[in-house]
Amino acid sequence: MRDAFVAFARGEWSMPPKVYVTNYPAGDFRAMPALGGGHALLKWVTSFPGNPARGLPTVTGLVLLSDAEDGRLLAVLDASAVTALRTAAAAVLAADTLAREDASSWAVVGCGVNGAETARMLVARGRTPQVWDVDATRREAVAEELGAEVAATAEEALACDVVATVTPGYEVLYVEGALRPGQHASLMGADGPGKAEVALAELSRARLFCDDWEQASHGGELAAAVDAGVVKREDVRELGAVLTGTAKGRRSDDDVTLFDSTGLAIQDLAIANVAYAKHDELDLQTIDL
Ligand SMILES: NC(=O)c1ccc[n+]([C@@H]2O[C@H](COP(=O)([O-])OP(=O)(O)OC[C@H]3O[C@@H](n4cnc5c(N)ncnc54)[C@H](O)[C@@H]3O)[C@@H](O)[C@H]2O)c1
Repeated sequence: MRDAFVAFARGEWSMPPKVYVTNYPAGDFRAMPALGGGHALLKWVTSFPGNPARGLPTVTGLVLLSDAEDGRLLAVLDASAVTALRTAAAAVLAADTLAREDASSWAVVGCGVNGAETARMLVARGRTPQVWDVDATRREAVAEELGAEVAATAEEALACDVVATVTPGYEVLYVEGALRPGQHASLMGADGPGKAEVALAELSRARLFCDDWEQASHGGELAAAVDAGVVKREDVRELGAVLTGTAKGRRSDDDVTLFDSTGLAIQDLAIANVAYAKHDELDLQTIDL
C-alpha cells in the first residue's frame, strides 16, 4: 500500500476521477479506474448503508484487472475482499506515518466488514487495538477473534493514541473539544457526501491529511469544511506527498493528526496486483475464466 501511494504521488500510477452513480437515499454505485504496475483496473462497487438491516453487506461488487499492454482481462476479483484489505491497509499506513512514535494505545471504532479488517491488520502489525461498536455482538465477535479487548465505552476507545474510525459516518464521533493533543485518527468511514465522523470545529484544530485532495474535498470528511470555507487546499497534505517527503507529516508531539480516507482505485490496484501475482502462494480461491 505504501508503494502504491508513493507511485501515485510520483505520477507513475494514474487514476481518473471516481464516478458516483447515485440512488440516494438507498445508496450509490462507484466506478473506480486506475493504471499502474503493468495493469489497468476497474472497480464497480456499491455503498448501501441500509443493507445490514436486510441481512446484506453494505459494500458489494467486482474488480476487473487487465493487462495494460494488450488489454486482456486477466482476473475478476471480489470487490468486498479487495476493499476491506486496502481500506485496512490505508488506515494502518496513515497511522504508521502520522502517529507519535511513542503511541501506546490503539482503537478501532466500528467493527463491521472494514473495521474488523482494520483491527486484523493492526494485530498483524503487532498492535492489539481496543475495539468498539454500537452493536455489542459485533464488538465482542471481533475482540474474541483477535484476542483484543472491548473498550468500556465509546469515549474510552476514541481517547486512544491512535484510532481508526470505520462507522457509516452519519453520526459525529469526535464532538467539539474531544480530540486530545498528540492523537492520530484515521477517518475511514466518511467516504461520501453528507458523512462525517469529526465535528467541523475539530477539523480546524487538527493537522489535516487526506488520500487524494480531489476526492476528499468533494465527498469525504473534509468536504463540508471545504464548502464552508473552513478548510482550504493549503491546509491539507496528501499521504503520498508525506511518504515521498514533499510534505511534512506530524510536526510536534502535540499535533492532532487526522487522515481523511475516501478510498482510492490505486489502493485496489495495489491489492489486485499482488493477489494476481501471488495467487498460488497466497492460496486464494480461484476459478479459471
Ligand atoms: N475510506 C474507505 O476507503 C472506505 C472503504 C470501505 C468502506 N468505507 C466506509 O466505511 C464505513 C463502514 O463500512 P463497512 O463496510 O465496514 O460497513 P458495515 O455496515 O459493515 O459496518 C459499520 C459498523 O459501524 C457500526 N456503527 C454504526 N454507528 C456507530 C457508532 N456511532 N459508533 C460505533 N460503531 C458504529 C455498525 O454497528 C457496524 O458494525 C461506511 O461508511 C463505508 O462507506 C470507507
